Parts: sequence; C-alpha cells; structure tokens
Amino acid sequence: MNSLLWHHVHVTLPDREAAAKWHEQYTPANRVPPTKRSENLYWSPNLLQIQSTAVAPEPRNGHIESIGIGVLNLNETVAEWESAGGFINILTPYYAKVRDPWGLAFELVERSPKAYTHINIVTKTIEQTRNWYEENLGGTREVCEWDRTRLALKYDTMLIAFNQVNSTVFSDRRTIDHIGWYTDDVDATFNQLSINGVYFPVKPRDYGPVRLAFAEDPCGIWIEIHILPKYGKKM
Ligand SMILES: [Fe+2]
Repeated sequence: MNSLLWHHVHVTLPDREAAAKWHEQYTPANRVPPTKRSENLYWSPNLLQIQSTAVAPEPRNGHIESIGIGVLNLNETVAEWESAGGFINILTPYYAKVRDPWGLAFELVERSPKAYTHINIVTKTIEQTRNWYEENLGGTREVCEWDRTRLALKYDTMLIAFNQVNSTVFSDRRTIDHIGWYTDDVDATFNQLSINGVYFPVKPRDYGPVRLAFAEDPCGIWIEIHILPKYGKKM
C-alpha cells in the first residue's frame, strides 16, 4: 500500500502552555499559535502537539514510550537538558533517555536531521506490530542504526521504532496520547482499513475545519487519520 504521510504526535500535560514555552526556549522547536485543543511546536517538518486532556484510553498491549530527537552533540544536549530542569534516565554513547520537567519522555540520538525524528513504541510483539503498521499505514523497513534490536519503519519525515519489552505493565504515568498521519481522503482510508479489519473507535467526523478519525493498533494505541490540507503538508 502507499504510505500515509506523517502528521503529529499528541501528548497530554496539565500545564500545556508552560511546557510549550519550555520546549520553545530550550530546544530549536518553533512554537506556532495554539489551537483550541493544543499547543503546537514544529521542529521542521514534524509537529508536537500538547493538549491538557487525554483523548485516547490507556493502551492494553504496548505503549508509546518516547519521542525521538536528532541532535548535533549528544553530551552537550544532555547537559543542556539537565541544566534546564530536565532529567536524564539513561545515557549511552549512542542515545540518551531523558525527560522534560513535566516527565515527558524523549530519546536523544546523535544523528541527522536535527528534528523530531522518531517515535518509540514498546511492545512484547514487535514483529507483529511492525507488520500491522506496514500493512495498514505503509512505511519502508529500515535498520535502527543506534539500536539494531529495534524494528523500524520509515515514513516520509518520521521513523517509527518498535522496541521489545517483556512486560506491558507500565508503572509510568502515560503522557504520550496518540500519533497521527495525513491522508488525502479520510473516508476512503477508513473504508480501506476497515475492510482490512482495523477497528476505528472514532469513525470519520468533522472536528472544526478538519475531518479526522481514530484507528486502533494491535496494542490499543490510537492512530489519528487526519485530512491533508489543500495546500499540502507544512514543510
Ligand atoms: Fe492528535
């Protein structure tokens, strides 16, 4: 199938404005005017949206673990996050698992481009989950260069990495709510994926000026299918 175009990752934090200001100040992300639902940060061309109320229910068999960022110098960036109130959970020569002051999880990787570059999904069944994304949303298989135990699918501007875990019971407070792709016809994509057996907890509907729907992956993670604007994807 043709790959859908990457749109956004949506997170839930109680103080969305303060968090957006922090990311604007301490990362190269560009904060654009908020919408009714969300704060919006572009680290070109990818979008991070911060809402204050969760949309998706807790997934059952997996978890969106972190948002990946490509950085120029890993050690320098880790030091900057720490001095700005962030937390460092794991530091390896290749990547760092960090949190912003609100506990939102990121993974810093010394790689190009300098942007929001990847999303980490953790599950016990990485191969089946990868295959589901490939069959239903497209994407091209890639090697995850900084951790070859992960499986990965590349979409136009985003990599989805599937990380093996032994348990899907997470003690973590969930902050990453859902992930989203563009399509040029929400209803046609809904019809096609429904024929494939994909469950849509939210069927196509108009939400303000946009048309969208939410599908569910095999882990119970919600996937927003969002209409591509007439002017195309913001790059
Ligand atoms: Fe969303």
